[in-house]
Amino acid sequence: MTEQNATWHPSTQFIHENRQARSRYLTGTPTVQPIHASTTYIHQNSEALDRAFSGQTPEGDPAFVYARQGNPNAQVLEDALARAEGGVGAITFGSGMAAINAAFITAGLTTGTKVLASKDLYGPSIGLLQAHFQPNGVEIVLKDLCGPDVGDIINAEQPDVIYLETISNPLVKLADLDAISTAAHAVGAITIIDSTFATPYLVRPLEHGFDMVVHSTTKYISGHGDSTGGVVISAKNSLLGQLRGNANLLGAMLSPFEAHLIMRGLRTLALRMERHCSNAYQVAHFLQQHSSVERVYYPGLSNHPQHTLATRLLSDEMYGGLLSFELKEQTREAVYAFMDRLQLCLVATSLGDVFSLVSYPPMSSHRTLSESERHSLGINAGCIRLSVGIEHIDDILSDLDQALRG
Ligand SMILES: Cc1ncc(COP(=O)(O)O)c(C=O)c1O
Repeated sequence: MTEQNATWHPSTQFIHENRQARSRYLTGTPTVQPIHASTTYIHQNSEALDRAFSGQTPEGDPAFVYARQGNPNAQVLEDALARAEGGVGAITFGSGMAAINAAFITAGLTTGTKVLASKDLYGPSIGLLQAHFQPNGVEIVLKDLCGPDVGDIINAEQPDVIYLETISNPLVKLADLDAISTAAHAVGAITIIDSTFATPYLVRPLEHGFDMVVHSTTKYISGHGDSTGGVVISAKNSLLGQLRGNANLLGAMLSPFEAHLIMRGLRTLALRMERHCSNAYQVAHFLQQHSSVERVYYPGLSNHPQHTLATRLLSDEMYGGLLSFELKEQTREAVYAFMDRLQLCLVATSLGDVFSLVSYPPMSSHRTLSESERHSLGINAGCIRLSVGIEHIDDILSDLDQALRG
């Protein structure tokens, strides 16, 4: 079992997760948890195995029986992420989408339930709601949940479940978490938030009254572009128990190898986020003044519609590592020509990696929408998403500059 010093700053906690109390060190205890590849686990006798099926040893340690139901590497990561978000516990999954699906099922999406979801969601999250839950009788209502009238919307819709993202994709809008959770509690709705873009280092939605937080750990938490995973962190023991049961039945568990990599990523999350945010801040200001750029979307800019909210919500004025911008020439051809000139920034989907990643939403996250649907979301033909990496800022700026100049 881990024993943590509750007074440590999160950046210290992330590094020393999985650290054992000194009294429990054996000679030669590894400082880093080994990878437990075993699918099944032996116990002292049949009675102990019987107890282990209920999840605990007599000493109160987690007991493992079969890897789909939990493995030591995933368990350490779950403890660390639950602590990072201030939840009662967490369950890890094989991808962010698997985590989102499990959160929806745990929230009780069934015939007759009504989900109020942000219209700015990650495309496949809307796809999951519309392709799988809607045909089974779940009512899906998509609204702008980033505006000042969000409380009135919740009141008028009376949803059973509310689902949104802390920072939206690709226009980096923020939602007023306190206003949403207050209105949700008043109508008895369960609140779920995808906080992938923010990470627990920038904001902890459970402290703002949310019930479940979801992350694609594939992004910032892992951070090195080499592992795929997801997590749901719960504020309540009742939801956690249901999540655990659903995870076992859904079978989309996280493998010990992926858990090991994600845990390694978590150790440097604080350092990386500080650099991502400071680089993104400088890139946003640089792009805003560039003659080839029409508009920049970044919550750290004073002209961003939710700049004041972002300053209140996000830690230490760290506004995230992601931004979007529009070329003056609003055409797909101009975007492709820009992307093909990039030499440092990688043109690839995903975000939150150590390297800068450029993507074109009409080609990637929003490709299934029509041009007019994208337009109604504010995603124009010249819109480019940039996940700013942790390279030296001068190198990022000079690459963007040469690609913009053509
Ligand atoms: C905000 C957000 N949530 C969830 C996901 C899905 O995560 P995964 O690809 O790990 O399934 C993504 C993927 O890009 C994402 O951007």
